[in-house]
Amino acid sequence: MRIDILTLFPDVFGGFFAHSIVGRAVAKGVVDIRLHNVRTFTHDKHHVVDDYPYGGGAGMVLKPEPVFEAVEFVKQDAVLPSVHTVLLSPQGRLLNQSVVRELSGYEQLVLICGHYEGIDERVAMYLANDEVSIGDYVLSGGEVAAMVVVDCVVRLLPGVVGSEVSLVEESYNDGFLEYPQYTRPAVYRGLEVPSILLSGDHKQVARWRRQQSLMRTAKRRSDLMAKAVLSDEDKKLLSDALQNQVTEGI
Ligand code: ADE
Repeated sequence: MRIDILTLFPDVFGGFFAHSIVGRAVAKGVVDIRLHNVRTFTHDKHHVVDDYPYGGGAGMVLKPEPVFEAVEFVKQDAVLPSVHTVLLSPQGRLLNQSVVRELSGYEQLVLICGHYEGIDERVAMYLANDEVSIGDYVLSGGEVAAMVVVDCVVRLLPGVVGSEVSLVEESYNDGFLEYPQYTRPAVYRGLEVPSILLSGDHKQVARWRRQQSLMRTAKRRSDLMAKAVLSDEDKKLLSDALQNQVTEGI
């Protein structure tokens, strides 16, 4: 996959892409991440990228010209047929694991980071194919949002995360939160790991984990629970848990 990021602050990405799982993916050649400074696509002496909003109001607005030209540049350079251009903005559709899976299917992503009070609406309407928000809060720019998108998209690419099983089992994959995890020591400061995990009974461990996953989701995320599809077995596990209040770790 290739990811082009259009930003006014390319320097903020350096450490992030050099380390972590994303860094490893870059080193392995699984993903080619290219940073482009939008300011270099201006033509005036002072490289102005923002202007006052038409109609008045506070703050400045990112001008359309350098953003259009930057996108045209990365597309002209592209050798890949499936290019998806995403504007990061608080007005976009909310990022979740299913949007992440969808984005990870493109051969090239172009991520546009907004800044100032906003970005000229023509970018959203005529240039980007998609507008994505990472949550219902306002960041000072799209850079952190772009890092979030890159991080969760790249870890889904084949060969990036060591164990494919850990991707299958993780939170949100089947619409439920993940069960609690423990490691050694079995007792730490008097706090014990649930005894079932030490039992060696794989069937009981799997049952306990599924039950914890269902209980967590029911207690913490009623929105996910409302959308979830429960098997008969799940319903039984949940009702047993609610009756017994199996709340270890919840
Ligand atoms: N830019 C500013 N706030 C944002 C958000 N919540 N998501 C994506 N991009 C943003």
